[in-house]
Amino acid sequence: PNILEDGKILDQNRYKPICQTYRNTRTFLTLYDTKERIPLEDESAGKNMKIDNKKGAYKYQASNLDYENSEPYTRGHVCPSSYASNKTIKTSTFTLTNIVPQVESFNRGSWEKMETCVKCFMKKFCKNSNGVTEGYVVTGAQPGTEKLKNRVNIPSLMWSAFCCYSDDQKAWLASAHWGENVADEPKDYLQTKSLNALYKDLGTPTFNIFPETKKHVSVKYRDMYRIAGRVSGYVSYRQTLANTHP
Ligand SMILES: *[C@@H]1O[C@H](CO)[C@@H](O)[C@H](O)[C@H]1NC(C)=O
Repeated sequence: PNILEDGKILDQNRYKPICQTYRNTRTFLTLYDTKERIPLEDESAGKNMKIDNKKGAYKYQASNLDYENSEPYTRGHVCPSSYASNKTIKTSTFTLTNIVPQVESFNRGSWEKMETCVKCFMKKFCKNSNGVTEGYVVTGAQPGTEKLKNRVNIPSLMWSAFCCYSDDQKAWLASAHWGENVADEPKDYLQTKSLNALYKDLGTPTFNIFPETKKHVSVKYRDMYRIAGRVSGYVSYRQTLANTHP
């Protein structure tokens, strides 16, 4: 609300849509805030940070300098590099217009685990009628009150939502995860919740991330992690969940 309504950007001088393109391949879409110098939202149907080197970019975009000596904040991807289906797409996520200052332990901890779990889940259930994995992911950063180097907004919270049609379940599936941009405890994880719970928590009840899919089944968090738990390397994570949520 007040930024993007009915698919229209209200303040077009401040908020810029960026069709992320690398080697002539369009990869994902970013809604960038040129005042706070962070992406607000990334949409994807799928440490060499690049910066638009047009004159004047420094004024409107974050730069590598902004992220130097910035502990505990690191470069947090909004559109995950791990969701890329090939190298071109992966490389394209390493652009500063896809980056927000994210607390390192949160980035490498519960946020990364969530990204992996969602990917595992989508691989298993988000198959369209042709048997091809297809899903939609929208990830966002809620601007906070502090800035890195007096330039780059430090988001107070990050959220991620996905939806997909599951031919297997004959239903649209969706869920959301979010967490505050603060230090993680070692066993922290993000709970799987409904889109409505996300809207409520963001204080934006009129918001609709996936307007085309009015009816969907919310994925339960135990299902999400049950799937992820089968993937080798995530056994200990499942164990953690079993301990905290028997
Ligand atoms: C990567 O995937 C995109 C989207 O499917 C495609 O357009 C592009 O050609 C692929 N690039 C390579 C190098 O395979």
